Amino acid sequence: MKCSDARHGDRLRILVAALSFGMAGSLAETASGADATAREIGRGRYLAIAADCAACHTAHSGLPYAGGYGIPSPFGTIYSTNITPSRSYGIGTYSEADFARVLRRGVTPEGKYLYPAMPYTSYTNLTDADIRSLYVYFMNAVKPVEQMSRPTRLMFPLNMRFLMIGWNWLYLKKQRMAVPGTATSQVARGAYLATALAHCDVCHTPRNFLMAEIPDRNLGGAALSSWYAPDITPDYPSGISTWTDEQLRLYLQTGNAPDKAQAAGPMAEAVEKSFQHLSGRDIDALIAYLRQVPPVGDPAYKRPRDSFGAPSHMEAAIRGSRVDTRTHGELLYSRECASCHQPSGKGSRDGYYPPLFHNTATGAPDPGNLVSVVLHGVRRNIDGRIVYMPGFGPESPIDHLSDQDIADVVNEVETSFGDPEVRITQEDVRNIRNEGRFSLSVTTERMVSLGGTILALALVSLGIVLIRRRRAARRRL
Ligand code: HEC
Ligand code: HEC
Ligand code: HEC
Repeated sequence: MKCSDARHGDRLRILVAALSFGMAGSLAETASGADATAREIGRGRYLAIAADCAACHTAHSGLPYAGGYGIPSPFGTIYSTNITPSRSYGIGTYSEADFARVLRRGVTPEGKYLYPAMPYTSYTNLTDADIRSLYVYFMNAVKPVEQMSRPTRLMFPLNMRFLMIGWNWLYLKKQRMAVPGTATSQVARGAYLATALAHCDVCHTPRNFLMAEIPDRNLGGAALSSWYAPDITPDYPSGISTWTDEQLRLYLQTGNAPDKAQAAGPMAEAVEKSFQHLSGRDIDALIAYLRQVPPVGDPAYKRPRDSFGAPSHMEAAIRGSRVDTRTHGELLYSRECASCHQPSGKGSRDGYYPPLFHNTATGAPDPGNLVSVVLHGVRRNIDGRIVYMPGFGPESPIDHLSDQDIADVVNEVETSFGDPEVRITQEDVRNIRNEGRFSLSVTTERMVSLGGTILALALVSLGIVLIRRRRAARRRL
């Protein structure tokens, strides 16, 4: 009796132990499952920031990822769509395979062909693991927004989305990017970040007349509406060979490389929303990659764009003289710019107001970025600290300058602090203000030459559609 009691007790103890072990095991399993999802979401969030999805998919003062941000093109404005997990208006019904197809091939589950304003030509290089993390993040951690996307209506014939079949056939790579086997792992990571995620090439690589990037001018400098994204290859004198690693690091992480360059316009947005949040290791990988891309170069450059100018002594020279001999441009500089950038153009000692000499905006052979900065100002939020310069264009909060005034003050800044050979007119300012870099005549020319090409593209697309249909019909037989 005693003995069986003992045995019974043992069994009970074993049972309890087994049960509690099992329970703990399954609890641990759920906990590790939740951990894995949390880890996946964290990874996806970082990737979404590196790929800057929010910059294009969030309208000014709109809800995160609800779309409606307009991207201008010569054919009309392309609006981004709602990519929150709303089942009615967003991507809530997407499977992971649907998501991968949109990102890599630019085709939605309903078979709609996207315009390459959505950078699927970059995301086509994303790894499976990164697509999965992005998917898990969007489905689980982004708040659904029940709001219809603003429709995009481009001019005929680009309103026919099937033309993109021909475009993709010509320009969308079939294979993912290949990194040379000789590249270090840091350079390979940098190449992946720059090409697949942060898509530096989307802005810095020039495009042909069908808006496709020109591969042998990778990162060689490109116009971007009224801005110019300069050559960032190691070319001398037009690239970044004169930049130190520390200057590139500061520029990408804060938008300000002292005595060199400040980021305004689209680059300020990319720094604010994306690059300032990248890890130090990823920033260093990007720099290592930039250092070894083939130099491209631009014949317009005679000297590095950060090598022009010196402090001005103009105000000291006129002090004490009875007649003010200043030109209209000099007067405008004193009135509108000197309070922050100093009469000498040296800026403030702490660097918050940058010097205007040895500055890439004033030393570039093309004054587009300088004019755009004067028109639109600078605004960046870096880790909660706002960097701000007011614009002087039509929406100016302080002083609205005419196109002629802007031409005069820009010519003065070029003479005193930048490349004195650069001269602009009132018309140049108007063109930059109105249509970005595409002056009306250039746009018309482009449209005319595009006419024939689009016809060819339509024929190619139609051909591909017919071949696909015939193949599908043959499979059904
Ligand atoms: C440079 C701007 C830009 C960036 C960056 C961008 N998108 Fe887009 N995206 C667009 C535009 C514009 C469209 C709509 C294109 C069209 O109508 O043809 C779009 C469309 C989409 C669609 C199609 C939705 C639908 O069903 O119509 C998805 C999904 C999407 N983007 C996801 C993403 C994700 C995820 C990221 C980040 C990894 C991202 N996008 C980054 C501009 C961008
Ligand atoms: C959305 C478009 C856009 C993207 C994406 C972008 N850039 Fe830029 N970048 C610009 C523009 C525009 C300028 C000029 C800004 C100015 O002068 O205020 C610029 C300026 C720069 C400069 C300073 C050049 C100079 O001489 O002043 C560097 C360096 C740079 N970008 C590196 C990068 C790298 C590296 C990436 C990718 C990790 C990148 N950019 C992605 C648009 C972009
Ligand atoms: C209220 C102060 C203020 C005034 C007035 C002002 N600026 Fe600025 N400026 C700034 C600040 C702040 C920056 C950005 C510094 C940064 O990006 O870190 C800046 C940046 C610049 C840059 C570099 C931007 C780039 O993209 O490389 C140029 C060029 C410039 N200003 C020219 C001018 C000119 C010309 C005027 C007069 C028409 C002017 N500024 C008036 C404060 C001012």
